[in-house]
Amino acid sequence: MAVVDPVTDPAVTTSPVESYNEWDPLEEVIVGTLGGCAVPACETAVAAVVPHRQKDFFERNAGGAFPAEYTARAAAELEDFAALLTSLGVRVVRPDALDQRRPFATPDWSSPGGLYSAMPRDVLLIVGDTVIESPMAWRSRYFEAHAYRRLLMDYFRRGAKWISAPRPRLLDSLYDEDFDDERPYRSGRYATTEAEPTFDAADFVRCGRDLFAQRSHVTNLAGIEWVRRHLGDSYRVHLVEVADHAPMHIDATFMPLAPGKLLLNPERVKTVPSCFDSWDIRFAPQPALPEDHVLYMSSAWVSMNVFMVDERRVVVEAGEAPLIDFLQDWGFDVLPVSFRNVIRFGGCFHCVTADVRRRGELRSYF
Ligand code: ALA
Repeated sequence: MAVVDPVTDPAVTTSPVESYNEWDPLEEVIVGTLGGCAVPACETAVAAVVPHRQKDFFERNAGGAFPAEYTARAAAELEDFAALLTSLGVRVVRPDALDQRRPFATPDWSSPGGLYSAMPRDVLLIVGDTVIESPMAWRSRYFEAHAYRRLLMDYFRRGAKWISAPRPRLLDSLYDEDFDDERPYRSGRYATTEAEPTFDAADFVRCGRDLFAQRSHVTNLAGIEWVRRHLGDSYRVHLVEVADHAPMHIDATFMPLAPGKLLLNPERVKTVPSCFDSWDIRFAPQPALPEDHVLYMSSAWVSMNVFMVDERRVVVEAGEAPLIDFLQDWGFDVLPVSFRNVIRFGGCFHCVTADVRRRGELRSYF
């Protein structure tokens, strides 16, 4: 029997990657891993978003390890989450746990190490049958996509489209040297300039033909424009204006959960694009996380970083009782999962996933 090579065989017309929104029934997902993770160097765009009380930790430990006790507990929570999705009939795949505690350099700069492969949502922008590798602004994340290359090569071999956005140089000119993260928040001030396109995929959320993006300390307007031009006429990319002193990733701020249901952060969203006029828009309750819970890279609002298994079932952090009640009242079936150790590392269920395939089609919801 002849061996069919999908890479070269024109008969292969389907793609194992197909995901247009945040809520169609989930069939396959990448769940991140904390194996090999490292503390990133505290560069301008990192200092801009880490909680002030953690800055010393980053300065002292760049290129080293996070406390082993935290990583072990978080790894166990990730396994439980992956097992839950598997039990629901979802195919779960994992990236490689590359050793991030190794220095690296480009011709222009060097870094004491990388970060992790825990947050596929940041790295991979999946739109329909295409995976886009993000041009990330943190130097520590320059090679982060490598942890996914085994998976991406497999998807490519089976018919997916795969592209990497222009690889940024991340020269000093990308960072606003006057940016001072200690100064009170002023809207429109960002740690990155427009020197070249950069974005993290997690600064975008997908609603079929419409994607919503925020300008953040890692995603600049050039990056959003690159996505807009790359996706072309089949998609509309909207800019959402937010008031956030540490913007990085839209998915703790502006979360379309299901057709007609938009969850907002009550402290951050200035104006909602008018296309949502006919949607039910609700503000999330305050996070329930205790004040003294150590979070290295985010605010407690990662409570909002929920993950839809389909348009009814939503995975929520088990300790977020007010949010659980709120979502149940709104008609969702809540699947509570303990994740308080994972969130120390900067993200919750939406961040630690990249939905490779959801059963559905490209359509407009507006
Ligand atoms: N960067 C987002 C926050 O801290 C996830 O709320």
